[in-house]
Amino acid sequence: NVGGLEFAVADLALAEAGRTQLRLAEHEMPGLMSIRREFAGAQPLKGARIAGSLHMTVQTAVLIETLVALGADVRWVSCNIFSTQDEAAAAVVVGPNGTAERPEGTPVFAWKGETLDEYWWCTDRLFRFADGQGPNMILDDGGDATLLVHKGVEFEAAGAVPAATDADAEEYAIVLRTLTESLAADPKRFTRIAGEVRGVTEETTNGVKRLYKLATEGTLLFPAMNVNDSVTKSKFDNKYGIRHSMVDGLNRATDVMIGGKLAVVCGYGDVGKGAVEALRGQGARVVVTEIDPICALQAAMEGLDVVELDDVVERGDIFLTTTGNFGIISAAQMARMKHNAIVANVGHFDNEIDMAGLAKVPGIRKLEIKPQVHEWAFPAADGRPAHSIIVLSEGRLMNLGNATGHPSFVMSNSFANQAIAQIELFTKPGEYPVGVHRLPKLLDEKVARLHLDALGVKLTKLTKEQAEYLGVDAAGPFKLEHYRY
Ligand code: NAI
Repeated sequence: NVGGLEFAVADLALAEAGRTQLRLAEHEMPGLMSIRREFAGAQPLKGARIAGSLHMTVQTAVLIETLVALGADVRWVSCNIFSTQDEAAAAVVVGPNGTAERPEGTPVFAWKGETLDEYWWCTDRLFRFADGQGPNMILDDGGDATLLVHKGVEFEAAGAVPAATDADAEEYAIVLRTLTESLAADPKRFTRIAGEVRGVTEETTNGVKRLYKLATEGTLLFPAMNVNDSVTKSKFDNKYGIRHSMVDGLNRATDVMIGGKLAVVCGYGDVGKGAVEALRGQGARVVVTEIDPICALQAAMEGLDVVELDDVVERGDIFLTTTGNFGIISAAQMARMKHNAIVANVGHFDNEIDMAGLAKVPGIRKLEIKPQVHEWAFPAADGRPAHSIIVLSEGRLMNLGNATGHPSFVMSNSFANQAIAQIELFTKPGEYPVGVHRLPKLLDEKVARLHLDALGVKLTKLTKEQAEYLGVDAAGPFKLEHYRY
């Protein structure tokens, strides 16, 4: 706490380095900056107290300062223990006009390399605005902030937090402990918070899945905006963002030659498609695994072999999970891999690769090559010689753990959707009842429009007659809701 501003970041002295990167990012984020200009006067987020849980990168810093420019009071944490860029976090705390001695920006609680205990401590701080207030908006990525509120309300209603069982993951036990402490100090804290929250805007596939589950069960507590499924989000960030940042992570982590290698991509959804394109672009031989016949057929039509993991596990050089599902690569499969095969994940959660099982392999040793790059050395066993595999970011999002996430231009699309979604939910509570919503298509098209000039794109104008012929408005939206792009 310096001069009344609360924060927990690695080092405020990094703020200047962060600010120079932010300046470059602003130029590459025309959508977000245009929204900043459009709404600076109207201040639509005045009165909003936004609790944000999303990778604390340079691009996110531009989003945070946009929300502030629109009138919001903001607090921020990262949604992953490895994804913070410490210089970006410092720059946000210091603010555009502050100094390290006199920070005057936004409270951030995030640093690269948090422990899980620290991560949930930060997430708890997220909900503690000044003067004992809670947030009235949530901006989430993966749903951890939303989860904490929902679990808090559930246990407050029950009057107690259940004890963690052996079956619970280590992380869930930490969540339960966080909530136990919260409930002991303030038995109705999350119930009050939930009562004030006007809505949550959710960034990613996995978080959106959690929201639909809550809505189906009838336990969703406030309206939610599915930002992920704006076309200008998932068909851009998930695909083209990964195409850029996944190879960046591979290169920074290992600098291994990708060309000629056999790369195995598990999952051929939006993220998988981007990953495959990047690996092929580098000259890798790529095969994919899928459970969905449509995605499997798409892969085949792209000329890819669609295989079962077990059939390639001994031959693959690079294994990448992109499924958003758990238990994709088992410890037994990792034991069968080639010496120095690389195993990495870009799906949201860390359970795609069985890291817990890997740590339990008898005689296995973990050696740090450098932060977020580990060699796991298997002893000779079952007729196999001693060998190692290389695991990136401990099985967590490697494009953020080993690199700096997606580039600014694509995040400008995602975050323009976020900013618009925050404005929609905050200013039009009547229009969005409790449930999961998507942004109107016209706003999705607006986000795309905001990025055309920067690329020199010239749109053809629909004539009145053509618009009538197609049965659409000449100003858009141009497609029916079910169109798939
Ligand atoms: P998606 O649903 O489009 O794709 C996932 C694919 O995995 C689906 O086609 C599904 O059929 C397949 N799949 C599921 N279980 C499988 C299994 N056992 N074996 C093989 N394939 C399986 O989802 P999307 O948008 O591609 O997102 C994937 C994950 O990446 C999510 O966790 C999402 O939150 C995350 N994500 C990560 C980003 C990053 O920067 N690292 C960016 C965007 C999303």
